[in-house]
Amino acid sequence: MSRPAVVELIDVTRSFPGPPEVQALTSINLRVEKQDYLSIVGPSGSGKSTMLNILGLLDRPSVGEYYLDGALTGLAGEAERAALRGGKIGFVFQAFHLMPHRSVCDNVLLATIYSKVPRADRE
Ligand SMILES: Nc1ncnc2c1ncn2[C@@H]1O[C@H](COP(=O)(O)OP(=O)(O)O)[C@@H](O)[C@H]1O
Ligand SMILES: [Mg+2]
Repeated sequence: MSRPAVVELIDVTRSFPGPPEVQALTSINLRVEKQDYLSIVGPSGSGKSTMLNILGLLDRPSVGEYYLDGALTGLAGEAERAALRGGKIGFVFQAFHLMPHRSVCDNVLLATIYSKVPRADRE
């Protein structure tokens, strides 16, 4: 069997209840293979952030399926989603989201906290 896509969205819809209800994504299909490199572009309000939040496991589709590395993420609980996020996904936010009360080193290490590698090794 061929390797599953890294990312696969199948008929993903995300609506926000409102009122008025907003359908930010309507029946989106996306397949991203290993070594693909893509940009998501579109005017403000077209649903880019909504889609990235779903791809980053920060949000769930209202309807449809999201497979990450062949795993159906809709079946995963929050702990499993956090583990997938920690192991497979990297975020670079537009705002830095640094913790001002922590050192530079602590801020950098934050991304590796869920790796289960001992702190001394991560340092
Ligand atoms: N939490 C939310 N509640 C209600 N509507 C939202 C929410 N998030 C986004 N939207 C709406 O969904 C649409 C897509 O927004 P968004 O994904 O932020 O677009 P983009 O990132 O492309 O600018 C917009 O109409 C926005 O107002
Ligand atoms: Mg946005």
